[in-house]
Amino acid sequence: MATVTFDKATRIYPGGTKPAVDALDIEIQDGEFLVLVGPSGCGKSTSLRMLAGLEDVNGGAIRIGDRDVTHLPPKDRDIAMVFQNYALYPHMTVAANMGFALKIAGVSKDVIRQKVEEAARILDLTEYLDRKPKALSGGQRQRVAMGRAIVREPQVFLMDEPLSNLDAKLRVSTRTQIASLQRRLGITTVYVTHDQVEAMTMGDRVAVLKDGLLQQIDTPRNMYDRPANLFVAGFIGSPAMNLVEVPITDGGVKFGNTVVPVSREALTAASSRGDSTVTVGVRPEHFDVVPVGAGGLSKESGLEVSVNVVEELGADGYVYGTARVGGEDKDLVVRVNGRQVPEKGSKLSIVPKAGETHVFSTSTGERLSD
Ligand SMILES: Nc1ncnc2c1ncn2[C@@H]1O[C@H](COP(=O)(O)OP(=O)(O)OP(=O)(O)O)[C@@H](O)[C@H]1O
Ligand SMILES: [Mg+2]
Repeated sequence: MATVTFDKATRIYPGGTKPAVDALDIEIQDGEFLVLVGPSGCGKSTSLRMLAGLEDVNGGAIRIGDRDVTHLPPKDRDIAMVFQNYALYPHMTVAANMGFALKIAGVSKDVIRQKVEEAARILDLTEYLDRKPKALSGGQRQRVAMGRAIVREPQVFLMDEPLSNLDAKLRVSTRTQIASLQRRLGITTVYVTHDQVEAMTMGDRVAVLKDGLLQQIDTPRNMYDRPANLFVAGFIGSPAMNLVEVPITDGGVKFGNTVVPVSREALTAASSRGDSTVTVGVRPEHFDVVPVGAGGLSKESGLEVSVNVVEELGADGYVYGTARVGGEDKDLVVRVNGRQVPEKGSKLSIVPKAGETHVFSTSTGERLSD
C-alpha cells in the first residue's frame, strides 16, 4: 500500500517543443482510486507511463510512498499495469497467464497455484482457468488481465482504458466490478479514461487534463458542482452544461429577461480584466420551466426557447432548443419532466434555478462565482 506523488512531473518527447505532460502535481492517497480523464492527446497515457517507468521524466519527480522512483526501472517500482488490449499470452491458459509474472519472479508452484486460484475466485474465473484466451469473451479476458495484476499484490495498480474494448453494456457492469474490487483490495489505483461518465462513477477523485496541463482535481461531486474553469464545465456532465456569453449589468448578468445575481467581487474581477461580458453556465437540469409570457414583459418571464428536438428518455426528457441571447441565436439543452415534454416547434420559457448558475471569465475561462 502506498501513496503516489507526481511532483511537477514533466515529459517532453524527443523532437517535441511543448511538454506532453507539463509540471503535473498530484498527490494520491493510500488506497485511493484516482481517475485521469481528458480528451485524446491530453497526456493521460504519458502520465501513467511515467509512473510505470515506461517513459522518461524530463523534469520534476515521481514518488511511490517515500521512495523516489523517478529513475527506477519499471520492475523495481512494485506496480502492475492493465492495458486496453489486455496483452494476454494466446498460447497460455488463463491460469498460466495469471501466474506468469510470479513464475518469472521465481515464486514456487504451490504458492502461484494458491494465489491464482484466489484471484480467480475473486474475479469469478475459476471455471475458465484451463482455457486459452481465445475461448473467452471480451469481459472474461478483461478479468484475466485484472487477475494477472492482482496476483502480484502490487503497491499500485495502473489501468489505461481497460474497458474500451468492451461493448457498452459490459462496460457499465465491468466498471462497477472494477471499482468494488479496488475498494475491497484497497490498492492505490490510477485509472485512465477519456470517458467522463466512467471517471465520475469510478473515481474517489478525478483529475482533468487538457493539453498536458492539470485543470482540476476533485471529488466527482465537487467537480460537477464547482467546475474550476470553462473547459471542465463543458467536459464534465452529459448533456453538457449550457454556456452563454452575456453582458455584465448592475448587480448581476442578464440571462434573457432574467437578471442572474452574481457577487460583486466576481463582476469586479471580470471588469478589472477589461471584460464587458462573462460566461454563464447552467446545467440542463437546473432550469425552471415557466409559462410562456408569464408576467408579460416583466423580469420574471425568463428566456424563451424554441423547441427543435425533444429526446424522451422515459424518466426525463431533454429539450434541444434555440434562444435569442445577447443578439445571437444560441443552442440550449433543458431537462424536463419525462411525462410533460413540450411539442417540437413549440416555445418554452426558462429561468435558471436560484443558486445553480456558474459564472466564468470569458477571457481566461476561470471560475468567478463561488
Ligand atoms: N512516443 C511519442 N513520441 C512523440 N509524441 C508522443 C509520443 N506519445 C505520445 N505523444 C504525444 O504526446 C501527447 C500526449 O499523448 P498521450 O498518449 O499521453 O495522450 P492520451 O491523453 O493518452 O490520448 P488518448 O486518449 O488518445 O489515448 C500527444 O500530443 C501525443 O501525440
Ligand atoms: Mg492514451
